[in-house]
Amino acid sequence: MSETSQAKHDYNYKVVRQFTIMTIVWGIVGMSLGVLIAAQLFAPALNFDIPWLTYSRLRPLHTNSVIFAFGGCALFATSYYIVQRTSQVRLFSDKLAAFTFWGWQAVIVAAVITLPMGYTSSKEYAELEWPIDILITLVWVAYCINFFGTLVIRKTSHIYVANWFLGAFMLTVAVLHIGNSMVVPVSFMKSYSIYAGAVDAMMQWWYGHNAVGFFLTAGFLGMMYYFVPKQAGRPVYSYRLSIVHFWALISLYIWAGPHHLHYTALPDWTQSLGMAMSIILFVPSWGGMINGIMTLSGAWHKLRTDPILRFLIVSLSFYGMSTFEGPMMAIKTVNALSHYTDWTIGHVHSGALGWVAMVTIGSIYHLVPILFGQPKMHSTKLINIHFWLATIGVVLYIVAMWMSGVLQGLMWRAVNADGTLTYSFVESLEASKPFYIVRFIGGLFVVTGMFIMAYNCYRTISAPKESIADNPATAGA
Ligand code: HEM
Ligand code: HEM
Repeated sequence: MSETSQAKHDYNYKVVRQFTIMTIVWGIVGMSLGVLIAAQLFAPALNFDIPWLTYSRLRPLHTNSVIFAFGGCALFATSYYIVQRTSQVRLFSDKLAAFTFWGWQAVIVAAVITLPMGYTSSKEYAELEWPIDILITLVWVAYCINFFGTLVIRKTSHIYVANWFLGAFMLTVAVLHIGNSMVVPVSFMKSYSIYAGAVDAMMQWWYGHNAVGFFLTAGFLGMMYYFVPKQAGRPVYSYRLSIVHFWALISLYIWAGPHHLHYTALPDWTQSLGMAMSIILFVPSWGGMINGIMTLSGAWHKLRTDPILRFLIVSLSFYGMSTFEGPMMAIKTVNALSHYTDWTIGHVHSGALGWVAMVTIGSIYHLVPILFGQPKMHSTKLINIHFWLATIGVVLYIVAMWMSGVLQGLMWRAVNADGTLTYSFVESLEASKPFYIVRFIGGLFVVTGMFIMAYNCYRTISAPKESIADNPATAGA
């Protein structure tokens, strides 16, 4: 199907291949950095007294490389693939596609150089300084033109729902990035936000929360709506539900940002509004999860033999878990305990590792053979090993952080009868240490899985065309 379809429509798979390979490369880099900073939290000497390796500089490098390099490349690859396949037409412009690939890699390399050097706007997930922000804007505009241009010239009558989510992700990220990056430059690598005080905080978390909602959620839901039905060989469970899911999700997410700023100088009513919208957000989130999982109706048996499908379905379970937990943490009284603790870090990684990374990995295992002219991956057994390493690794990570987070919250608020604090801060740090070691081990599992993936993809790509299915030694379980 893939070969004939490729020949008939002459799709641009080159840019999809490029972004796919870089997804794996940046995944390994970003997650290895995560493991390093996880180790620094219980063994601080691992910064070797070198400024570039300090926790404060490597942490934003980790977040930027996993979100924008790993997640970003995955979104570029899959959106370019999905929009061509569902529109049955080649990309609007090959030149713009090449520009987005090289431009995005330039942004990432600039981040890898400037963040360890200490250049930062100090806005979380928007740390890059203004010249890099301008490059991001140019690449993003080219991306939008190419994606929507392809939809305009499509040969199908309707626009498949995956494209709705991908389109919303692209437009919203453009607005967020431009809105939050408005600065006054004072030198080549230093600028100050045009917003001040509480307004700046409000803008930052309007951006930050919707980076989660649109970059890390809507884009990956687009991926889910294409690859889950494809891999399951079933139509999406309910097309009507997917449209309701889309409109409800995009109209609610945008209001929830203030839940990051509970008990701050922000007007109280905005905090309460953010809390209310976050609680309602549970409904469309679970609607989407159920729609994805129920797509397997009549094909549940495939989970026993297909580890790619298992990646996709387990990612949806983590999505469900983190979108239950998020609304709960948005309730002010719960947030009073969870905020500043490792509970937030556990929530972040059940979303980012469990949902975002696992849906990406499943989709890439589906894509690589198609893109490189093979009927299937080199080894199904290795995909299975990767699946278990990733699942056990994520569970170790998030359970350790939940325990550590709740412990920290309870220790910080414990008071003696005379009103003094029961525990010093250092005592709570000591109590967290065993959990940091467990999180590090979980991270090692996840990264080991990524290396196995890289090896499996390399063997698939370098094998002679159409040779894999013929080889009984590699046919796999
Ligand atoms: C091997 C896998 C990973 C490991 C070991 C890891 C480790 C870490 C560590 C140690 C932190 C700092 C926590 C703190 O400051 O207390 C962190 C933060 C973060 N990581 Fe990861 N990470 C991994 C994968 C990922 C992935 C795949 C994503 C996103 C797709 C991600 C997104 C984030 C984000 C957004 C934060 C900041 C959280 C916050 O500020 O609340 N991580 N990670
Ligand atoms: C219904 C959906 C969700 C809601 C209502 C929600 C709510 C929340 C809340 C209340 C916090 C803690 C804020 C704080 O105390 O500072 C938080 C933090 C966070 N969540 Fe979620 N969440 C949701 C889904 C997700 C998903 C699916 C992901 C990842 C893919 C995610 C990623 C994050 C990140 C990265 C942070 C940390 C931000 C920071 O402080 O740096 N969330 N979320």
